[in-house]
Amino acid sequence: MSEIRSRVLELKSKLGVAIAAHYYQRDEIVEIADFMGDSLELSRRAASDPKEFLIFCGVGFMAQSVKIIAPFKRVLMPKIACCSMAKMIDGEMFDRAIGSLMAQGVAKDDILPIAYINSNADVKARVGKMGGSICTSANAERILRWALEQGGAASEKRIFFAPDRCLGLNLAAKMGLSAAVLRSGLDLGDLANARMICFDGFCSVHQLFTPRDVDFYREKYAGILIAAHPECDPAVVAKADFVGSTSQIIKFARELPSKQKIAVGTEFNLVNRLREAGKGKENTFVLSATKPECPTMNETRLSDLLAVLESIDRGEFINEIFVDENDVKFARVALDRMLDISGK
Ligand code: 13P
Ligand code: SF4
Repeated sequence: MSEIRSRVLELKSKLGVAIAAHYYQRDEIVEIADFMGDSLELSRRAASDPKEFLIFCGVGFMAQSVKIIAPFKRVLMPKIACCSMAKMIDGEMFDRAIGSLMAQGVAKDDILPIAYINSNADVKARVGKMGGSICTSANAERILRWALEQGGAASEKRIFFAPDRCLGLNLAAKMGLSAAVLRSGLDLGDLANARMICFDGFCSVHQLFTPRDVDFYREKYAGILIAAHPECDPAVVAKADFVGSTSQIIKFARELPSKQKIAVGTEFNLVNRLREAGKGKENTFVLSATKPECPTMNETRLSDLLAVLESIDRGEFINEIFVDENDVKFARVALDRMLDISGK
């Protein structure tokens, strides 16, 4: 065992802290985590964990969500790593987007926002204030069904979905809703027909998967199955056999017969672990010729984890997560609404 790893394990048990890791984290992190999960599972599990200290190995919006749901916890990150999609919209941009819909004739009361959990607390707070909800890739369909029921038959709400246009468009396609992406220059005609209006954000990692990659694998291996994360482009999702959150993809892949070939469109670390475990290298493929690594998820190393544990040991607490007090109350409203709708 490496010296760093044994020191991490020693301090982890001495300090009695919990370590949470998202599935996209490096193997060296995942191997020593107390629990792993997708965004939804991590926010539920981490918030209900009884330990005072939580070391969160993932990206900023995930650690922030735990701190909002469970403010009594002390949440620290080995690296303050920010998801690039979450940075595509902030509170002011959210306000401008709502303003531009209103300028095109949509009344504010007729707009119901849904924010993907991959967003900052200031965006979540605005969503909470407007009566909307957060969603994750695992519960997005359920949250959208709830949103569509709000307002009653007399006044159908228009859904404003931010920041991921791909998740928004994929959901709309699955549920047969008309959708538009809010881009400058879009005229009222496009918006007038759209029940779902998506902000123009995206995940740079999931953009790497293309319909040609799907065709390539289907031509090369007859009967191969394609699994994709819903952050992939709608053209990829339309060709996939299975679409789901990271934990849903893992479950799907693990339950397949051992000889069933599968190509997976999501982050490399997760797919590589699937490949190494269970079905073996020859049956599990990364759905891209370009290595789909999430740069921010990959920033966290064992040495960073050690540094944060040592800081707790010294009583200095580096990289502790705090949420702006102006945002906490309504961000929590939006997150709690999600947990209520999708089951705690
Ligand atoms: P999951 O909630 O499916 O884990 O997705 C989080 C994410 O950031 C995917 O890119
Ligand atoms: Fe953000 Fe994409 Fe990385 Fe997920 S994979 S954390 S959406 S940049």
